[in-house]
Amino acid sequence: MEKIQIFDTTLRDGEQSPGASMDVEQKLEIALQLEQLGVDVIESGFPVSSPEQFRACKLISENVKNSTIAALARSTEKDIDAAADSIGKAARSRIHTFVSTSPIHREFKLKKTPQEVIEMTRKAVRYARNRCAEVEFSPEDATRTELDFLCKVLEVAIEEGATILNIPDTVGYTVPDEYAQLITTIRNRVPNIDKAILSVHCHNDLGLAVANTISALNAGARQAEVTINGIGERAGNAALEEVVMALNVRKDILGLETGINTRQLYTTSRMLSTMIGFPIPRNKAIVGENAFAHESGIHQHGMLSHRETYEIMTPQSVGRDTTRIVLGRHSGMHGFRKRLAELNIIINEEELKRAYEAFLKVADRKKEIFDEDLFTIVSEQFGTT
Ligand code: KIV
Ligand code: ZN
Repeated sequence: MEKIQIFDTTLRDGEQSPGASMDVEQKLEIALQLEQLGVDVIESGFPVSSPEQFRACKLISENVKNSTIAALARSTEKDIDAAADSIGKAARSRIHTFVSTSPIHREFKLKKTPQEVIEMTRKAVRYARNRCAEVEFSPEDATRTELDFLCKVLEVAIEEGATILNIPDTVGYTVPDEYAQLITTIRNRVPNIDKAILSVHCHNDLGLAVANTISALNAGARQAEVTINGIGERAGNAALEEVVMALNVRKDILGLETGINTRQLYTTSRMLSTMIGFPIPRNKAIVGENAFAHESGIHQHGMLSHRETYEIMTPQSVGRDTTRIVLGRHSGMHGFRKRLAELNIIINEEELKRAYEAFLKVADRKKEIFDEDLFTIVSEQFGTT
């Protein structure tokens, strides 16, 4: 098994999601939970952007002991100084600096020539390296950058001492095979690439962030940048809980593992959702209400015979209580009989059939049948439970 570093950017890219702002104390609370979860790196924020951001990064650095604390900086000395000053007290710190490299960003955002972008990279990484032992460099919009130019920028970043090279799919544009191919090409073409860890950072504009992340890890990237519940700019970033569980459940084929305590996943997800007021969709993988719920008769019958017929991981493995057998219009006799028995409602087979027919009529009207409904159905049929 090879180890994948989990770099959580909930408090930076995640917080850039419209409506997801957290105050300083809330950010500290999430950071401490991320430490419990076992993330390797916590990106604490973008300190130059406001005094509150700076304070949050500083507070997190002073309180978290077991994860590396990163802070984001553009390529200017002012940004890099703010990052270095804010995380200086961390047990382990990392400056994450970035420069846009794609033609559209160079022309319309930076108004710089390719040569100027290379010089910006050189100066930024050199300056950051003088302020912090560990420097990560990101060529922003890497997946829309000309390959030769991208490789040149990465080469310069390594020359200047960056030891983590992140390849962001900034606008969620790439697809899994193409992204894997990009990682492979970088590994083959950039001189001294083995001096650095390759990192992946995927946005979800096409709903491919997790698939792209897994594909790139499979091609040799060794750090995944992710957020809790997949929050982030626009459609978000790759969801930590999904990437981690994909690696965990499919380690047979991927041969990769993380240091994440998966039993903390659900608590972390709920904590963030409640804090920022972003509800978790019912059908969200791993942490959604329906992720371990079964309503249809065929599935319930399968589940009651053997859990693995319709579940590839246990709810307990991600910190949830139990599988839910939900009674509704698609449920069959097996699930119905089992729930009645659990509720200690004792009726014979003939009565069970009548009760089941009555149940189906109610289930046609209601979306979900609760225990109180079952008591009502049985007492209406037989006078007592
Ligand atoms: O998406 C992106 O390109 C970023 C960089 C700052 C790494 O968030
Ligand atoms: Zn991003």
